Amino acid sequence: MSRILVTGGAGYIGSICAAEFIRQGHRVTILDDLSTGFRDAVPAEADFSPLRLQDHAAIAALCARRNFDGVYHFAGKALIPESIVNPGVFFDCNLAAGIRFLETLRHQGVRRFIFSSTAAVYGDPQTLPMPETHPVAPLNAYGESKLAFERVLAWYARAYGWNVTIFRYFSAAGATAEHGERHQPETHVIPLLLSAAAGEIPAFTLYGRDYPTPDGYCWRDFIHVRDLARAHAMVWAQDRPGCEIYNLGSGIMYSLQQLCSTVQSVSGRNFSVRIGSRRPGDPARLCADPAKFMRAFSWQPRDSELETIIRDAWHWKLSAARFGPAGVAA
Ligand SMILES: NC(=O)c1ccc[n+]([C@@H]2O[C@H](COP(=O)([O-])OP(=O)(O)OC[C@H]3O[C@@H](n4cnc5c(N)ncnc54)[C@H](O)[C@@H]3O)[C@@H](O)[C@H]2O)c1
Repeated sequence: MSRILVTGGAGYIGSICAAEFIRQGHRVTILDDLSTGFRDAVPAEADFSPLRLQDHAAIAALCARRNFDGVYHFAGKALIPESIVNPGVFFDCNLAAGIRFLETLRHQGVRRFIFSSTAAVYGDPQTLPMPETHPVAPLNAYGESKLAFERVLAWYARAYGWNVTIFRYFSAAGATAEHGERHQPETHVIPLLLSAAAGEIPAFTLYGRDYPTPDGYCWRDFIHVRDLARAHAMVWAQDRPGCEIYNLGSGIMYSLQQLCSTVQSVSGRNFSVRIGSRRPGDPARLCADPAKFMRAFSWQPRDSELETIIRDAWHWKLSAARFGPAGVAA
């Protein structure tokens, strides 16, 4: 059993990964300021510290008490449109607070670090699918702040002998029975589609029908959070110094139009779909080449078929409506 600190474990991906680490027998402490996460998403078996990444003294005290074997760092600001108009907040949280956090960990002797980065570090694809060697050229402060932090981590691995894993996720999607994706306010494509199917919003808006793709809509690579969680758990077993970057995607692209029709068929509900104009900074197509991680860990995406993703997300949505997101009868 290891003692693991999970930052951002009250959020979408962090809560699902934390539940997986607990299932595997680890002792998990979650650090989260609930700025975009939810207290009821924290798995019941985890210890919870309601701290901000910026609370350096309190984090140092927490690390000294718990003597962590390593850290999964999911916490961060992640809304691309917000990062375009408010870049300072992103550099402050994702980079500046992150570096102070690394220094705190270093002084406490923690050397194992797994970081949630993003496909946004690549910018517009020059080749598809995109391997880790694809040039990096972020189009927004979100991607830039994540890339800068990746580079800091590479130096920590080199200078201090840390064991660093950097995951560049493509579009995380789907749900487990207990945990799913939600934001306040909601701006993410799958939760919005499910809200339209549930009749909570009058229509769903698809941005752009004039992209250079076969059907004119954006195409994206969705990866089921269960596949992400398995990948995160797998790297824990490998404890050696160095810094490795892995793309995590399914390697398959789906059109957003196909996403809409899958939500309609899985939910059995029809809803209106409006066509809006393109949003700035949305690449026409994004697709991971996840071969490096597949080879290194014999990992395969098992649940990332579009229908499985949507079915799981829809079931979670229905059960959250019935029982509340924490699974407690409303
Ligand atoms: N969801 C995706 O498709 C996706 C894709 C690429 C990368 N990522 C990255 O994965 C990570 C998790 O994403 P998510 O979708 O679960 O987001 P999320 O917003 O659901 O989770 C982030 C969590 O971090 C917490 N947090 C934010 N700032 C904090 C701070 N200063 N101190 C303490 N806690 C803080 C939030 O309260 C939240 O619980 C993020 O770093 C994001 O950039 C996500």
